[in-house]
Order: sequence, then structure tokens, then C-alpha cells
Amino acid sequence: MKFFIDTGDVNEIREAHAMGLVDGVTTNPSLIAKSGRKYKDVVVEICELVDGPISAEVLSTTYDEMMKEAHEWHKLHKNIVVKLPLIPEGLRATRTCTQEGIRTNVTLCFSPNQALLAAKAGASFISPFIGRLDDISETGMDLIEKIVTIYENYNFKTEVLVASIRNPTHVVDAALLGADVCTIPFSVMKQLAQHPLTDAGLKKFIEDGKKIPR
Ligand code: E4P
Repeated sequence: MKFFIDTGDVNEIREAHAMGLVDGVTTNPSLIAKSGRKYKDVVVEICELVDGPISAEVLSTTYDEMMKEAHEWHKLHKNIVVKLPLIPEGLRATRTCTQEGIRTNVTLCFSPNQALLAAKAGASFISPFIGRLDDISETGMDLIEKIVTIYENYNFKTEVLVASIRNPTHVVDAALLGADVCTIPFSVMKQLAQHPLTDAGLKKFIEDGKKIPR
């Protein structure tokens, strides 16, 4: 399973990348707004750091405007994947991008049928938001299971990119279901490495190490 980092913070990307945990990056307008920087400046800097798919989202909702933004993102760097919303106009833009050889990440997916439409439009990635489903008392991971099954049934090439991850259990469950990618906040990436037995064992090894004659 590939690990993408879900952030607009370049320092987090640098740190996670140094640990070999960054196969790609996802951004969205809310994450970039937090950085206080221009969207393009952040994305260009990320592209210089990470040689993998970097999702950059369009900010408009009509076909013509989305295509204009898609062309601008595509021209900016070869690693950029254009992130488009799962609305009818977004699906139309996805299809055109695919025909033009522009990679796409269809975002804000909350149902298996939406994922089916994105695959039929030729999306490179589908982003089901599992944490936001959990937030409204649904089981987000059930959506991943259904999408993985549907895509396998029909051999769709669209990669399942599990998004809106909130905790380490989301990551292991996505891996067990065979999802292609998890996009993970840096805080959760750090949690993945933690185990109390590792800490206790290391403490003992350090103590005993001091008793070894040098
Ligand atoms: C995915 O590409 C989105 O950026 C992200 O995972 C959304 O997560 P949130 O629900 O925590 O905002």
C-alpha cells in the first residue's frame, strides 16, 4: 500500500519523507489555507521535494473553469495530479483530463455509486472520505470494502485512495482490504510507529547496555 501525506505543511512533508513514508502528497484548499501561503507556491515546493503524485485541487465548479485550472496545474509540474470534485461537471472534467493524458484524483466521494462513476470517467484515483462518514455515525471503512470489490469485479484501473484518515486503525483496516493508497495526516503517521512494548523494551535495553563492559 502506498503512503501519501495529507497536508499543506512543507516541513511535515520533509520530516515524513526523511523516514521513507511519502510516496505522494494530497492537498486541499482547507489545508493550504492553514499555511497562509499561495496554493501554487506550496505545490511547486512540494514537487521539488517529492517525486510522486502530488494532488492539487481546482477551486471552481464549472466544467470550463475546472478545465482551465486543470491545464494550469498540469503545466506547472509533471508530478501534479488534478483533484476534481465528485459532481457531474467534475466527472466531465475528469473524462476530458483522462483523454488529454492529465492524471486526476476525484475527491469528496461518499458512496460506492459515486466511486463507480469516477472509475467510468477514467479517474486515476478515487478519494473516499472515511473519517467524515465515521463523524456522522456511518462506518467509513464499509465504503472502502465496497469500492475495492466493485473495482476488482470489473478490473477498473482507478486506484482507491483512502482519505480523511483519523487514526492508526483506519490505516491497518485499509491495508487489510487491499486499498491502493492511504493519505495520512502527519500526526497519524507518527502514531503508527508507537507501541508501549517498544518503549518499555528500549528502556530496558538502554539500561542493560550501560552494564556491558567497554
Ligand atoms: C483528501 O485528499 C483530503 O485532503 C482529506 O483526507 C480530508 O480529510 P478531513 O476529513 O480530515 O478534512
